[in-house]
Amino acid sequence: MPKVTRRTLLKASAGAACGFGLGWTGNFVRSALAVPEPKIVKTAKIQATLTNAGPTRDVLTYGDADMPPVLRMTKGETFAARLINGIDEPTTIHWHGVRVPNKMDGVPFLVQPYIYTGDHFDYVFAPPDAGTFWYHPHCNTLVQMGHGLTGVIVVENPGDPQFDAEVVLNLRDWRLGGDGQFIEQYRPRDAAKSGTFGTVRTTNWLQQPQYDAPSGGLVRLRAAITDVTRIYSFRVQGADASVIAIDGNPVPQQFGLDLLQLGPGQRLDLAIRMPDQEEAVVSLEDIRGTKAAVLATLRSVGPSLRRDMRDLAPLEPNPVGQVDVGSAQHVRLALSATAENVSADSICGSLGYSFWAINKMPWSGDTPDPTAPLAELKLGKSYIIDMENLTPRIHPIHLHGMSFTVLSSSKRQVKPQISDTYLIQADEKVQLGFVADNLGDWLLHCHIIEHQKTGMTSYFRVV
Ligand code: C2O
Ligand code: CU
Repeated sequence: MPKVTRRTLLKASAGAACGFGLGWTGNFVRSALAVPEPKIVKTAKIQATLTNAGPTRDVLTYGDADMPPVLRMTKGETFAARLINGIDEPTTIHWHGVRVPNKMDGVPFLVQPYIYTGDHFDYVFAPPDAGTFWYHPHCNTLVQMGHGLTGVIVVENPGDPQFDAEVVLNLRDWRLGGDGQFIEQYRPRDAAKSGTFGTVRTTNWLQQPQYDAPSGGLVRLRAAITDVTRIYSFRVQGADASVIAIDGNPVPQQFGLDLLQLGPGQRLDLAIRMPDQEEAVVSLEDIRGTKAAVLATLRSVGPSLRRDMRDLAPLEPNPVGQVDVGSAQHVRLALSATAENVSADSICGSLGYSFWAINKMPWSGDTPDPTAPLAELKLGKSYIIDMENLTPRIHPIHLHGMSFTVLSSSKRQVKPQISDTYLIQADEKVQLGFVADNLGDWLLHCHIIEHQKTGMTSYFRVV
């Protein structure tokens, strides 16, 4: 048997005929690649201080800290985590944006069993892409995420440019009453519109936290929108900032932050050049809506490092397959509202309504009665999703397992951004191209979780 090194494996996985879905966890690979000691990721119910009203009960987290830990991985290196379920309902983990083998994708019924209270599941994969990603359950998702189970993933690339500091921000809201306790997670009339918004906004489970960064230094800010509903428009006040990556992938071309709108599930990487003088405050704001909201601030400390934004080498592109537009087959995908009806109950949670549909089929996902796949795709072939939003709402549409490239839009000039989530505007038509290089069943759904759970979910099958 030839010796398999990581290098040859990486090469093999880059070839379209052999998606990394094929091998990474097969026996052959297991024996060749030492699997590291799994990181223990245990779900827990805790009390946490999120408001001035005193501790909030029934908060869910991973581990024992007051926020799910930032999980660090290295591009191309095997990562292992043992999910132990310490809460009183089934759960799973989905590694949002990380291109994992299908069995590791965390979607109950479709690809893995859900994990009962007290049971565990071992996740093992090697993230092929560097960048900012995140993790969350895919079972009773609205409640479990709403109560806290959303964490950030940083996949490092040893070849990344040198920053003087890194700040990771987990952006999300909570549905709490004046007494600091959870109120109903959603309202059906809002689920049928833009979704139900939280009442308390946090960054890293804190209100407007401040972090120190060296004066005159270059900061890599990684922000993940892990909220179930809210769409953000960012602004940085008090320093120069440029967008370096979106959804884990380097931007093809710099552009103004003010033009950017990002939805639930999306990530933003910024390079920020701190002011030279000490004690200067830089703020990251959300300017969507009527009043700008400060999300977090950075304070400059120490003598100026006098760095220059132009010192930064560009980020290395991720090894995402290039769509062959000429030969690509088109798959039509229409997002619509549906006549109200009751959706099937499921152990992984049902909101009890259908409001939305993909190609006229409402499906809430995470149920034992999957509909037929949207399309059966051939491993290694190029596809273009012709997606059309027939609704008056904005939808962050997320594809599991494969990254797509935004090719064109009826609404605006697009750059060929690689991503896993596209925020489609009302009446927009967009083309998303991708290579079907990962075997298995891959969910596609709106990441406004109420939309997902009331019908805006479907999946592709790659064979
Ligand atoms: Cu982050 Cu299926 O989702
Ligand atoms: Cu939606």
